[in-house]
Amino acid sequence: MKRRNFLLASTGLLLGGWLLKPNDKGAPHSDYFSHLNTVLRENRIARPLLILDREKLKQNCTTLIQNIAPNKNFRIVAKSLPSIPLLGEIMSLTHTHRIMTFHQPFTNAVALAYPQSDILLGKPLPVDAAENFYLLHPTQSNFIPDLQLQWLIDSAERLHQYLALAQKLDKKLQINIELDVGLHRGGLKTFEQLNECLTLISQHSKYLRFSGFMGYDAHVGKLPSFIESADTSLRKAQMVYAGFIDHLRNQFSALYHDELTFNGAGSPTFFLHDERSPLNELSAGSCLVKPTDFDLPSLSQFVPAAFIASPIIKSQPGVEIPGPLPIGDAWALWDVNRRHTFFIYGGNWLAKPESPAGMQRNSLYGVSSNQMMFNESAAYGLQANDFVFFRPTQSESVLLQFGDIAALDADGIVNWWAPLEQGHGY
Ligand SMILES: Cc1ncc(COP(=O)(O)O)c(C=O)c1O
Repeated sequence: MKRRNFLLASTGLLLGGWLLKPNDKGAPHSDYFSHLNTVLRENRIARPLLILDREKLKQNCTTLIQNIAPNKNFRIVAKSLPSIPLLGEIMSLTHTHRIMTFHQPFTNAVALAYPQSDILLGKPLPVDAAENFYLLHPTQSNFIPDLQLQWLIDSAERLHQYLALAQKLDKKLQINIELDVGLHRGGLKTFEQLNECLTLISQHSKYLRFSGFMGYDAHVGKLPSFIESADTSLRKAQMVYAGFIDHLRNQFSALYHDELTFNGAGSPTFFLHDERSPLNELSAGSCLVKPTDFDLPSLSQFVPAAFIASPIIKSQPGVEIPGPLPIGDAWALWDVNRRHTFFIYGGNWLAKPESPAGMQRNSLYGVSSNQMMFNESAAYGLQANDFVFFRPTQSESVLLQFGDIAALDADGIVNWWAPLEQGHGY
């Protein structure tokens, strides 16, 4: 290459490279997070914490009730809001005593704490888990499982197991049958399967009571629209559901009555079920705290209400990567967003950085559950012991990871809410 061409090419490369340099995405805490930081420090909080903003939770509950079709009941998905006081707050804000549980220890805890509740299992539990529920449920409790608890059954085989349990315990079990409305995660697909289950229930009315259907439609809106639109998936799911209800009415009329539970939907789909939907109750949980997985256009009216707050352990300029090469310096020179380093208390959660804006993990340095590195364009006034904030990507496991949840309102920390316990022994 001629010397002149070489110079031109190199200048072009440098210029192109310069133009591709990342912009500064950093910013100090907003007033909201600045205030949270002050509140946490004033309260001498010095550990990673799960914060629940009660005002935002309340706002989400109002939004939810306004979007539930008038002829539908609402059922709270407990796994996504796993704390007894949190569930209690939502029960009173949404005026429901219906709860969906997915875990035997949580089911016992909810029955004990809220004896007026109506519990529907959201997944078919191994029959031993059902037995453990009864072993642990105090006989003097006002929660009467025979009337207030619906076990979810997904096959005739499991129904036989539950029947054997009912006979062994000499109890009557309420049976809700799972339908496959297109999600293909389980549940009955055919009328023949339903016939088999309902016949067994009819023949053993001393031990089994049919209580309804549950058909979850999480696939609706998830397929690329050129394969199937959300409207079409929803219409098909509702047709399947309605077909099962018709079959029940026509072939097993003795089992049909107005109090049956026809449950379905979840955060991403509940608002799609208008008055014409065959469901009579809709479930949702996650949208009330809105983790990042629920940043969907359909849930734009909901606001994030749960945050992780973590103290900064070390705040230092630059980014240092172990080894003899000055990789960190070169990186910070190239990317303004790598000019400052925070090591935080904990890390590696199912969560995304939220504040200060622009804070990002350093994949080259790696993740840590003990002290994780994050980079920023500047310190923005944040020093060791100040807090940085994250938004959980999902709530069901993250809310269980931080010990007592700090339930905050405008006055600062008002309450410590214990998360549900995963189980003792059994
Ligand atoms: C059976 C069932 N219903 C409803 C939901 C919806 O829960 P959420 O609103 O928290 O997404 C789920 C979530 O997994 C589910 O499994």
